Amino acid sequence: MTSKPHSGSMLGLGAMGGALAQAVLDAGRTVTVWNRTPGRAAELVSQGASEAATAGEALLAGGPVFVCLFDHASVHQTLDPLAESLRGRAVVNLTTTTPAEARELAGWAQRHGIAYLDGAIMATPPMIGGPGSHILYSGSRSVFDEHRQILDLWATSTHEGDDAGLASLFDLAILAGMYPLFAGFLHGAAMVQSAGIEAAEFAERAAPFLSAMTASFPGTAATVDGATYETPLQSLDWTRTALETIARASRELDVDPVPIDMVTALVRGEIDAGHGAEDFNRIIEQLRPRA
Ligand SMILES: NC(=O)c1ccc[n+]([C@@H]2O[C@H](COP(=O)([O-])OP(=O)(O)OC[C@H]3O[C@@H](n4cnc5c(N)ncnc54)[C@H](OP(=O)(O)O)[C@@H]3O)[C@@H](O)[C@H]2O)c1
Repeated sequence: MTSKPHSGSMLGLGAMGGALAQAVLDAGRTVTVWNRTPGRAAELVSQGASEAATAGEALLAGGPVFVCLFDHASVHQTLDPLAESLRGRAVVNLTTTTPAEARELAGWAQRHGIAYLDGAIMATPPMIGGPGSHILYSGSRSVFDEHRQILDLWATSTHEGDDAGLASLFDLAILAGMYPLFAGFLHGAAMVQSAGIEAAEFAERAAPFLSAMTASFPGTAATVDGATYETPLQSLDWTRTALETIARASRELDVDPVPIDMVTALVRGEIDAGHGAEDFNRIIEQLRPRA
């Protein structure tokens, strides 16, 4: 009889930690799991996972220590008391943190002789192990290479660099684009609902256009990287008129135009600084750190 390969410990069995542990089991491997509040491991245990009563006990299983908790503070609350037991071990932290928090954890790990890899999950729990799931990693390259077989069970895995903050930086920067996009879609849905049109019908029309627009990101990036705003595709002055028209239409429909007003404020900032004839993408100058 061949025993199943062991995949280390998973600390945290929330929606995401549970999905990660499940994918390990689905691949015919075993894993030791721990959750602060007991009672969340039964389903995993019925499929072969071992449940530890404490986080410290979970480490006794050996192998990499995967952490998927609520936030940066909960990671410290869980790992700080275990620092000495973790010496010489590999920690892969999949908890969402800011780049500065990830770097702080990497420094903490280094001071305690722990190899640290930070992970940023670009997926929802049902996507784990399926197509379209991507996890960005940064920090220890050797932890990434050594445990790649497990990481690849969850998603497409990419190592973004030795700086532990990079995975989180890319993750949060991408989400910074996603939330305003969704808010804009919902703003549009509220506008058409005023005419009795359902959001589903609106989505059929909006999705192809918005998808096509994201294909222009490389052009936007080239303009921004080169700071070549002088020959605009759409000038700031032109864009202000378009945005004000959308806002006026929204108010006519008794819909709050706040998502559009946010963009208009950025555009006005550049116009007020004397750049109205230049390219819309110049609004990044409103966002960047000021010298
Ligand atoms: N869900 C998603 O779509 C998604 C997507 C990408 C990334 N993520 C990231 O994955 C991480 C986990 O998310 P989730 O969806 O699994 O969240 P969740 O369902 O709310 O689970 C949170 C987990 O953290 C534990 N926890 C909270 N505070 C703790 C503390 N002080 N000490 C020890 N354990 C603590 C909880 O334990 P108890 O059961 O004891 O409360 C639970 O296991 C988050 O950083 C999240 O941003 C999630």
